[in-house]
Amino acid sequence: MKDMSEGYTTADGRKIGGTMMEMKNITLRFGGVVAIKDISFDIREGEIRAIIGPNGAGKSSMLNVISGFYIPSEGEVWFHGSKRPQMKPYQVAQQGIARTFQNIALFKGMSTLDNMMTGRMTRMKSSMAQQAMWWGKAQKEESEHREAVEKIIDFLEIQAIRKTPVGRLPYGLQKRVELGRALAAEPKLLLLDEPMAGMNVEEKEDMSRFILDVNDEFGTTIALIEHDMGVVMDLSDRVVVMDYGKKIGDGTPDEVRNNQDVIDAYLGVSHD
Ligand SMILES: Nc1ncnc2c1ncn2[C@@H]1O[C@H](COP(=O)(O)OP(=O)(O)O)[C@@H](O)[C@H]1O
Ligand SMILES: [Mg+2]
Repeated sequence: MKDMSEGYTTADGRKIGGTMMEMKNITLRFGGVVAIKDISFDIREGEIRAIIGPNGAGKSSMLNVISGFYIPSEGEVWFHGSKRPQMKPYQVAQQGIARTFQNIALFKGMSTLDNMMTGRMTRMKSSMAQQAMWWGKAQKEESEHREAVEKIIDFLEIQAIRKTPVGRLPYGLQKRVELGRALAAEPKLLLLDEPMAGMNVEEKEDMSRFILDVNDEFGTTIALIEHDMGVVMDLSDRVVVMDYGKKIGDGTPDEVRNNQDVIDAYLGVSHD
């Protein structure tokens, strides 16, 4: 049983549960560069958690540690109450963590539908050999995966582009397809690296609405990196602020907005 006494209720009445993920004293070095310096923070069940900070602050590196793309030099990653051993990214994915990338990473020549099907990989049970021997079983599995993907296509309102090669889509729609591929894995924790970067105002509004709907309708916990402060303030329950690899703030949007260190280091400077 989840201990709800650890949780809290948001201003808009959503119930946030206990701790899902805990980063404990994470340090990450690349040769002489220290990308992350001794950072600790938690992510709670059902929460929308933002990570903000200037370019080069170490935000993407932090998401890469959570997703298993980078192994921290020091510190521990705890997930659902136990310390995570060193894992490959696909093993982390199998634990129910999916992500999108700062630079879109889709198969440009493949259709929206096929790109989203690749998001089902971690859930596929039949191996190639099994598929050869038990054709019927594999076909049944294939159609179940297709059904799950079609539901997400409806949810994201991208029916009209389901057969279109993603390389031909405008940027904002590609970002939406990438979100769709992550959702196809039916993650418990969704990691979004700058989901709205490079979008126009209308595209940002659409993406914001989808992020809120994913959290609300699927109960998905979300950690996102975002530069647009307005978006962060509107979307997130709690915010971690990073600067030069260090954590300089952590709290509700209002708390970090009024934190002098944050104002000095981040809000005071332009990022455009
Ligand atoms: N794979 C890597 N190899 C070497 N240095 C890296 C690597 N990834 C990130 N860094 C460095 O770590 C620092 C933080 O980068 P990053 O996490 O991308 O910041 P942010 O996402 O906040 O802009 C930067 O100095 C960057 O050059
Ligand atoms: Mg980044």
